[in-house]
Formats: sequence, structure tokens, C-alpha cells
Amino acid sequence: MSEHAPLHTDRNLALDLVRVTEAAAIACSAWMGRGKKNEADGAAVEAMRRAFDTLPISGTVVIGEGEMDEAPMLYIGEKVGAGGPAMDIAVDPLEGTNILAKGAPNAIAVVALAEAGNFLHAPDIYMDKIAVGPGLPDGVVDLDAPVGENLRNLARAKKCDIADLVVCTLDRERHAEMIAQCREAGARIMLIGDGDVAGVMATTQPESGVDLYLGTGGAPEGVLAAAALRCVGGQMQGRLIFEDETQITRAQGMGVADPRHKYSVQEMARGDVLFAATGVTSGPILRGVRRSGPLTITHSVVMRSKSGTVRYIEAHHNFITKTWTGAAPTLRTR
Ligand code: FBP
Repeated sequence: MSEHAPLHTDRNLALDLVRVTEAAAIACSAWMGRGKKNEADGAAVEAMRRAFDTLPISGTVVIGEGEMDEAPMLYIGEKVGAGGPAMDIAVDPLEGTNILAKGAPNAIAVVALAEAGNFLHAPDIYMDKIAVGPGLPDGVVDLDAPVGENLRNLARAKKCDIADLVVCTLDRERHAEMIAQCREAGARIMLIGDGDVAGVMATTQPESGVDLYLGTGGAPEGVLAAAALRCVGGQMQGRLIFEDETQITRAQGMGVADPRHKYSVQEMARGDVLFAATGVTSGPILRGVRRSGPLTITHSVVMRSKSGTVRYIEAHHNFITKTWTGAAPTLRTR
């Protein structure tokens, strides 16, 4: 498929896509801070699945909630949409299930869409990731370069000192050595508990204060983050991490030809990509869902790689007048 093959959809698809992430975010926000991550995730999945029914596409989930036998909805291979052009769908209805269960910042609902065949079919394993925002020279950082070298090159490109740079990474024991190397080189660190899609997205926004994302996280989340970066021109590289031969065989079955391949952002999310995310709890880019009586306010971003347009949408949902197709906005368990 050519890089510039048209996305056979009208411009309204961007707005339709936001409705999908809004529905998931609103549904799971009812579970914020209740310590029940599975219930929260279930609510997001169900609402997102229903919202997909209104989209004028013939979508196939390629990044989803798991294999068909392990996920009831939005499983890999599931068909979604009301009919239309064939599209690949990548979803994470609640990115940051632990975050939401604790009421901590940075949980989001995420969807990306491209013409069929354009997303890397990443298995549910880890991926090593490095990402920077737009406007930097190609190859300014590299997954295989030493941490200190990446920081020196990034500081030079940004015309600042390494001490001005902030590296965002997941707070995990496996990152201890990399974090020590960043500190040794003089950079500052922002540790996040979960949610590396938002962590990568933060590199695209100067206000977030994040200059570089580094570390190992979920491979499906890597593809979603790459879809976001494709839309704004950021750079990202990812390499799948296999724990055993079974994982390699599974990945090969999903189309991964070279298990050691270092994927660029363009290889993970090709063609004309649409990306939407809605904040569930507040983070540096998106405010979380705010609920007040019948009024619920959501904050979303939707972007398209072909045009490079980034739209922020604050929606005021009135549940007295609104026809709601997702899960009920208030908890049914009381
Ligand atoms: P969930 O929303 O599925 O809980 O994922 C959260 C997350 O932090 C991702 O953002 C990240 O890619 C992955 O988990 C990291 O995995 P682990 O917690 O095993 O380090």
C-alpha cells in the first residue's frame, strides 16, 4: 500500500473516532479509584465495542484485548464497524488499568485506524522503545546507541544542556541500569507507574516537559504510540523482546519476519493513520473525565497523519438529553 493511499473515509471519521474513545473513557471513569481494574477495563471495552458499531467502516482489530479465546470483545481478528472500507483497528480501551484503579494520573482510552495492512501486528509481549517528538533531525536518537550518546545528540539538536532534558520511563526494576546511566549523564528522569502510550505522546508536547521516552513496555502499546507519533512527525524505534521460542513462533505466525528487527515509526504505523485518545484521569496532555450530575466533560485529541492536523476536543455530554449507546455513565453496582 502506498504511503499516500487515500483513507477512504470522509473527514467526519475523525469525529466519529473521538466518540469511540469518549465512550470508553466515560464508561470506565465510573470506576476511578475503586481498586477494581478488571471491572474498569470491562466497562471501557464494552462501551468502546458498542461505539464501534456506528463507524462507517469494515474494521478488523489487529491490536486489541488479546486472542479470541482470552478476550470476549475487541479480540484480535474481531470485525467491527457498520460497514465500509476495510480498516485495521488498534485499540486500548483503558490504557493504564492500575492507574485508574488507584485514581492516579495519565489513564487514557486510545484508538488508531489505518487502511487494512498498515499496522504492525504486534503480539502481546514486551517491546524496547525510544521516542522523541517532532522537529528533530532524522536519527537524532537510536535504540542501539548508548544512553549517554543519545542524550548528547538530543541536547545538541535541542540546543540545550543534557541537564535540561527530561527522560520519561516506566518505574520498573528492569530500567534501573538505564535510569542510572541517564542520571550519570546529567539528565533528569520522570518515572511513570504505568501508561507508556501517554509517556511517548508526552514527547510531542513541549508543555509536558518530556524530551525523550526510553524503556521496555507492551508491544501493542508501542504500535499505538507509533500511530500517534506518525500523525505529528515524531520519531520512535521499537524492537520486540522475546522470552522464549513459543513467542517467536507466535510472532512469526502474525507476520513478523525478523524477530530482531528494529521497527521505525513508519514501519509500525504505515499509510494514512487516524489516532484518537480521550483522557480518563488527567495527564500532561489530556484532562481526565469530569462528572457533575448529568453533565460529563471529556477532553480528547484526534489527529491524522495525512494532513498532520491535531485537534483537541472538549465535549460536554448532557446525559439528560443524550442518547447513550455505551455503558451507563454512572455505576450500576450501587
Ligand atoms: P494496562 O493498561 O494493560 O495495565 O497496561 C499498562 C502498561 O503500563 C502499559 O502502558 C505498558 O506498556 C505496560 O503496562 C508495561 O507492562 P508491565 O506493567 O508489565 O511493565
